[in-house]
This record gives sequence, structure tokens and C-alpha cells, in this order.
Amino acid sequence: MLHRKKTEKEIKQAKEEVLDPVFGGRDLMRPAPKFRLPREEMPPRNAYQLVHDELLLDGHSRLNLATFVTTWIEPEAQQLMSESFDKNMIDKDEYPQTAEIEMRCVNIISELFHARSDEKENACGCSTIGSSEAAMLCGMAMKWNWRKKRKAQGKDTSKPNFVTGSDVQVCWEKFGVYWDIELRHAPMKKENGYRVAMEDLVALCDENTIGVLGILGTTYTGEYQDIKKLDKLMAEYNAKTGYDIPIHVDAASGGFVAPFLDSRLEWDFRLEGVKSINVSGHKYGLVAPGVGWALWKDWSYLPEELIFHVSYLGGDMPTFAINFSRPGAQVIAQYYNFVRLGFEGYTNIHKASLSVIMTLKKLLEKSELGEVVMEDIRMPLLAFKLKDNHDYDFTVYDISGRLRRYGWQVPAYTLPKDCGDVSILRIVAKEGFSHDLASLLVKHLREVMKELKSEKPKRIKPSREAKIC
Ligand SMILES: Cc1ncc(COP(=O)(O)O)c(C=O)c1O
Repeated sequence: MLHRKKTEKEIKQAKEEVLDPVFGGRDLMRPAPKFRLPREEMPPRNAYQLVHDELLLDGHSRLNLATFVTTWIEPEAQQLMSESFDKNMIDKDEYPQTAEIEMRCVNIISELFHARSDEKENACGCSTIGSSEAAMLCGMAMKWNWRKKRKAQGKDTSKPNFVTGSDVQVCWEKFGVYWDIELRHAPMKKENGYRVAMEDLVALCDENTIGVLGILGTTYTGEYQDIKKLDKLMAEYNAKTGYDIPIHVDAASGGFVAPFLDSRLEWDFRLEGVKSINVSGHKYGLVAPGVGWALWKDWSYLPEELIFHVSYLGGDMPTFAINFSRPGAQVIAQYYNFVRLGFEGYTNIHKASLSVIMTLKKLLEKSELGEVVMEDIRMPLLAFKLKDNHDYDFTVYDISGRLRRYGWQVPAYTLPKDCGDVSILRIVAKEGFSHDLASLLVKHLREVMKELKSEKPKRIKPSREAKIC
């Protein structure tokens, strides 16, 4: 075999690649590309260093108490995920075992949510990229079912609506906009303990309602809505009106908590009116982002017209998803968790996170300023506001900003518009947020409060006389 003699330039370049220290070579002397593909290649170690270093500026995910999404996974789960990073979920003919694992997960979650199962037929559901995609799929199924019934009755199908509380997550607002469905919001009420009354949901329903939403673990405060009550009220309403409005449960976070910490709570397919559920595997399902699950009570609630059959990957491939290609690694990690943890493991992990939250709650209540806004803590989450009678010139936003200096990410935000004058802080405890870390958070919270109190002293309230003048 003939070898071409290397040019001077090539020899110099090869030498540079091997000998130059990363930060001494020319690659890192140039600005990182921001708008255009660079003309030339660079050695992998330099490219790695450049990207790696930029990411140093991200917050540390383990201190991210804002997210519901998993920030710590076991090394074995990491290993399985890196072994399967190349598996495309849609290639079911090429990766039949990944497809089988997805189906096993659907069966296991359906059983956990008490869908009827005879273990002879697969349960009805699919994996998604997260709860948002699952919400779109379940919402679409409700719209299609409603439209089919209306068409059969010769009725108008142009004004579908979907009923939710104002504490709904943004994915449902998106669903309304993307699929041209009016979203009707029942108010969150202060006098109702910052909750939405189930009666108010029912009051918004009419013949054009494709479904009504119950939330198991709201994004704002982590409260479980009273879905059993909603089911009873909707059964009465449907019987009275002759409609057949289904309940969908957004169990994005609570779906992987309630079965382990509150197994007697009826919120799922045990209830007659609950026909579909979404849950995020990457939240309390303890998988790294992104996997979610869409589930139906049985096959009769998933319209056949929404399932597409493709043949170009070999075999007949039924698909019901927004995306075509999707990573398989998260689905595999979900199954790993099921095998590894079982009922006992999930229970232990969530109990540990909940106990961290209860400790934080106690400490907060002992302190001068914080006031928990949740009546019932069932998920490992704490939402609190400054006490109404606090009269320092700082807000929860100041606290959130100062905590950031220690690395903690604790979000501050306002409640939905009906309670929009209330601003709160939210701490989500997940696997990996230990009692030790929580005690450090409290220490820093105290320091921040002390600092703010000394910098922004008590407002001087005008006296009665002063007011009259
Ligand atoms: C109640 C609720 N529904 C839906 C979602 C969206 O879930 P995902 O991030 O998995 O798309 C969230 C996310 O926090 C949520 O809290």
C-alpha cells in the first residue's frame, strides 16, 4: 500500500493535536461558534473541553429544588442508559426487546393504577417523552371520542372545551391552543385552602366538554385534588344530563407517589369515571429525563383512527405518538427501576424524601416568617409563603435570589391568577436530597433571612393618627 508523504502543515497539525496542552493550543484560543458551523474540525479532547467548560456555568442539578424531574440515578441505571443510547424507540422490529420492555412497563403501571387486567392482553398505553406529550395524546383521544359521539347524534362539533382548575400545568394550556380546544378554568380559592373546588369544575361542563381534569399533585403546591369526589359529582352530572364526560387524571408527579405512600387513596382507574391518566417516569418514577406514560382504562377509550401503522421499519408497526424517533434508554431505565426497586424500594425512597420535607416543615414553622400553604402534604414537596403579618421590606423573590448564591435553586412564583397576589417558594425533595443537605438548606435559609432583615428593616406602619391626617 502506497503512503502519501504528509505535508509540512499536516505534520504540524498532527504534532499540535498530540503535544499541545488543551489550553495552550489554538482551538481554545478562538471564540466558540455561536452562529455558524466552524469551517475546520478540532480534536475531540479540545471540543469536549470547550463544551464541558461552558456547562460549568449551569446550576448544579442536585441543588435544583425547583424541578420535579430526577436528578440522581444509580450507576447501574446510568450504565444501562449509556449501553442503550443508540436505541431508537420507534425501531420496534429492530429492537424487539426494547419494545417488549416498553410493553411490560405499560402493563406494570396500568396494574399499579388498577386498570382491569386479566394478564392475557396487554394493557392500553404507551411511553412518551414526558407528561406533556402524554397529555396531548390523552387529550386527543378525548376529543376524538367526543366528536365521534356528537357526529353520530348529528350534533355540532365545532366548539369543544376542556375543563380544568386554574392550577393546571402549562402543558394543558398548550393542548388547548394546539388542538383548538377552549380551556375552561375553575378558580383556585384562598378560602378553600388554595385549592380548586370540585363543584366548580362540574359547573363549567356542558354538552361540548370533551373531558374534565383531575390533578394528582398540582405543580403549584403539590396538592392532590379530590378526584374521588370529582368522580362522584361527575357521575351525578352525567346521569342527570345524559352526557358521558370522562375524567382524565394528570398524575405527572403524584402517579408514582400515591400508589406507594397512599395506597388506599382512590384516584385512579378504580374510579368509574377515570378513563385516562398521564404520569411522568422522569419525576417520581425516578428515571433521568425524558420519559412519560399515557394510559387508558381499556382499549375502548383509545380511538383506532389515532393509531398509525407503518411498514418501513419492517413488520407492521402501530404507532401513537407525536414524535417518530425517540430515545429508548429512558424506557429501559424505567424497567430497571421496576426490577430493582419493586414496591418496597419505591416506598422507601419516597418515604425518605417525605420525611425530609416534614423536617423542613417543622423547622419552617418554628421560624418567624414561613407559612406553609398546603393543608395536606402527601408528596415530598413544600410550598410556603412569608407570613401575612411579616413587615419587612423583602419578598420571596429576594430569598430565592440570595439562596442562589449558595448554589440552591428554590423557585419563587405567584399562585394562579385568582390567588395571584400570593407569592410562594417551593421545595421539591427527590431521591438524593438527604436530611444532611436539607439541614444545610435550612442553615442557609436562616442566614439569608437574617441578612435581609438587617438590610431591609421593618416597615414603619403609619399610626392611626397619621392615617387620618
Ligand atoms: C401536574 C403536571 N402536569 C404535567 C407536567 C408536565 O410534565 P413533563 O415535564 O413530564 O412534560 C408537569 C410538570 O411539572 C406537572 O407538574
